[in-house]
This record gives sequence, structure tokens and C-alpha cells, in this order.
Amino acid sequence: MARREASFICQNCGAVYGRWQGKCDACGEWNTIAEENAASARPQMPGRAPRKGRAFALEALAGATHDAPRLASRIAEFDRVTGGGFVRGSVLLLGGDPGIGKSTLLIQVAATLARAKQRAVYISGEEAVAQVRLRAERLGLAGAQVELAAETSIEDIVATLGEGETPRLVIIDSIQTMWTDLVESAPGTVTQVRASAQALIRFAKRSGTAIILVGHVTKDGQIAGPRVVEHMVDAVLSFEGEGSQQFRILRAAKNRFGPTDEIGVFEMTGGGLREIANPSELFLSERDLGSPGTAVFAGIEGSRPLLVEIQALVAPSSLGTPRRAVNGWDQNRLSMVLAVLEAHCGVRLSGHDVYLNVAGGLRIQEPAADLAAAAALVSSLAGSSLPADAVYFGEISLSGAVRPVAQTASRLKEAQKLGFARAILPDAGRAEGTGEAGLSLQSVGSLASLVADIAAQGKTHDRRQPSDGRREKSDDRTPATDARGRKADAG
Ligand code: TYD
Ligand code: MG
Repeated sequence: MARREASFICQNCGAVYGRWQGKCDACGEWNTIAEENAASARPQMPGRAPRKGRAFALEALAGATHDAPRLASRIAEFDRVTGGGFVRGSVLLLGGDPGIGKSTLLIQVAATLARAKQRAVYISGEEAVAQVRLRAERLGLAGAQVELAAETSIEDIVATLGEGETPRLVIIDSIQTMWTDLVESAPGTVTQVRASAQALIRFAKRSGTAIILVGHVTKDGQIAGPRVVEHMVDAVLSFEGEGSQQFRILRAAKNRFGPTDEIGVFEMTGGGLREIANPSELFLSERDLGSPGTAVFAGIEGSRPLLVEIQALVAPSSLGTPRRAVNGWDQNRLSMVLAVLEAHCGVRLSGHDVYLNVAGGLRIQEPAADLAAAAALVSSLAGSSLPADAVYFGEISLSGAVRPVAQTASRLKEAQKLGFARAILPDAGRAEGTGEAGLSLQSVGSLASLVADIAAQGKTHDRRQPSDGRREKSDDRTPATDARGRKADAG
């Protein structure tokens, strides 16, 4: 007799408990634990003896693959992130906030493939066929031969897809709305999502169809439910953007068949998502030239150089614990840079609120941004603007030294292409990049020398605003290490 044991599963992280509790010990979320039937999660009929295994043939690793292993979507920014297109039989999970443009992106991908005479199927569990059609019409894609359905039953979907010519791409929008007969839990629960994904993955591997699963993201940025699916799929992509900004960035968090550090940049327009082939131009297009507190960072995203503006605001604080707010960069990295500024450069920030923002809604992960962030911070504190034609990059170590970073040459080339005249870079980077004509290179060995430079430029500003409220704290803004700074500068 099959025993039906109920178990309680956290809908956020998939942790299993013997009884209900309010808070999940594993992920710390409240009210995410729901009762699900564990016995039915196993795809066996109750009372039937377990099936005896069937022997299968093992194959050599060095076998020949017949078909072209990848199917390019022909949307270059999308292919860049997947690593050159969809691998046959692979399953991708695309996560993103509601309304960010996942459905828009995928209907565009499906339409481009269909135009290239590849069979593409779009299955929506959220919208009616008429709604999907309406959107495609608005995007000017109504003529594409995409096959549509509004379905949520996995068994029906797999049966339908198994008929006729095998589709090259199937889009399931979204995995949370799908359900399979194999388990009893409600759609959207961990068990359902996992079982549905498993059935689709099995179909993909068997047929060679590439499948994209859409997954919603919860308020704290996790792909809800499908977090338990992340390890089952071949690639996890996320589609991000600020609500108020038109830029959308596609990233890979995991990719079995490609890189994870590439980004694809899109712009949401009235006619759908438009590819941005040269993101630097976009991120620098609305620059606030000549105001203190902004520095241009010459970064690298994947294989592509990317210039982006870093904005800082350092203002006297009325709070006991001053604010440190950061947007688009790592909070810990900011704390580290602030600590190095205090400890090694004599810049006292403990009485100031600090705000740091990466323009355009971009998220930077490179440590190479340290130098640009520090320059922006010091520039804001000193009230002295940085040269508008300069780019900054370099990693700052805890000792206050500026460390070299990779790919100096391509950073400089991008800066030159966009009309910048000088680069402030680490000492060792100079040798690597000297080949680049046209940019004047200024290497800094220590953060203290950069601070001294900026303060020296700001001297004129200081004299011009004598009765500013911040003037009383003049010791705050004059680096105590002028002498040391100059020395380092000369060396
Ligand atoms: P959608 O693809 O439905 O988002 P998701 O599937 O991630 O929930 O995108 C919805 C948003 O995109 C909506 O706020 C309107 C906007 N949008 C445009 O700005 N232009 C367009 O051409 C389309 C189709 C949508
Ligand atoms: Mg959608």
C-alpha cells in the first residue's frame, strides 16, 4: 500500500520540512512553506511495482555529431550571451521581473527564426493567443510563421510537439503556469515546476529541440520556484533593467555551452526591443560634462569594452551613521574604497553621506572600476570636476596601491574610438598599452597620488567658494598626504 506522506516544501528555495513552520530555516523567507504531496512527486502509479531498468548502449565521447550543433537566433545581442545560438536539445531558463520584456524578446527571437524557415513554437500559459498576436502585430512581426498556442498542460504540449516536423525552438512562457498530471500540487509550486521542467527537458534531449523556459523573479531577485530548476537546465539567463530606463541587459548566470560574462544590450522602444551594438555610446550619451563627482570608467563586459559613467555624491551628513547608498556596483567594494581613502589618503568621509551610481542602470562587477569610483568620490568631495576627456580604470588594493587589470589595450582602444584624449591607469598597464597612439596615458601607482592630483586641480574651486557650509570642515577635503602624494606622483 503506497503511503501518502505529506511534506512541507519552501516555495522559494525548495527546502523540505516534516511539518509546517512560518519561516524557512534554509533561506530565511517567511510564509513560503506550503504542503505538497511527496509520494506523488514520484512519477509512479501507487501500488505498482517499480519498473525494472532497461539496459542501454553506452557511446564513445569521440562520436560524430551530425547536425550543426548551434542554431543562431540572428539577433546578435542574444547570440552573444548564449555563446553563438541555441545548442540542439538544450534548455534555457530566462528570468526577469514582470514587465521587463521577456515575452517581447522571445516573440522577436521566435519570429526571426521563423523568417529563416526554422520551425518555432511559442506556447503561452499567461496570455491568450489573441494577445500574443496583438503584440506581434505591434512589433511588425505578424507575417512571421511562428506557431502559437495558449496551453498549460505539459502532457498536451509534449504530445503536440512530438507530432510532425520537430520544432527547432520552443518557448514556454512561463514555467510557473505549467502543470503536469504526474503530480498533484497546484501550478507554480516547487513540485509542479520541477516536474514540468523535467518533462520538457526530457523532451528536448530526446527530440533535439531547443527550449526556452520563462521564469518570473521574486522581489529579492531570485527566480521563484524555478530556482530549483536552475541546476537542471543548460543555461540560466536573466533579463534586467531599471523600470524608469529604456535599457535592458541580458546576462548569463550559468551557461553550459558558452561564456557567462557576456552581456547583450537592448533598448525597449515602441516597436519592441532594439539591439544596441555599441553600448558605450548609449551609456555616455547623456553625460553631465564638467560637473564634480563624475568619472568615466573604461570597463570590459565579457569580450567587449564598455565605457560607462560613474557618478558620486559626497555630502555632509546630519545622521549619526552616515548613509552609503550604491546603485549598480557592489556595496562591499564601495566600503573598501572608502576605507582605503580614509586610511591611506587622509580623506575623512565619516561625517559624509556617500551615494554612488552607475549611469544607465548598468551593473558593474569588475574590480577595475575601483579607480574610477574613487576618482568620482574624491572629485565630489573636493568639489572639483575631473577632466571630461579622461577615462579611469584600475583595481585598488587594501594597501592603497593601484593594481593593473586585464585587457588594457582594448579599454584604451574603445576610449580612443569615442573621442577620449587621456587615460588614468595603473602603472603596469602603461607598458601593455603604450602601443595605442592618440591617448595620453597617465599612470598612477597609488590612490594617494590620484587624490593629490584631484585636490590640486580643485584648489581654484576652493578659493572661489570661501563661505560654503562645507568650508568649515576644510580639513576633510584637503588630503593630509599632499607631500606623500606629490612624492608618489613624481615616482
Ligand atoms: P513583456 O514582454 O510583456 O514583459 P514580461 O513578459 O517580461 O512580463 O513587456 C511588457 C512591457 O514592455 C510593457 O510594460 C510595455 C513594454 N513594451 C514596449 O515598451 N514596447 C513594445 O513594443 C512592447 C511589445 C512592450
Ligand atoms: Mg510575459
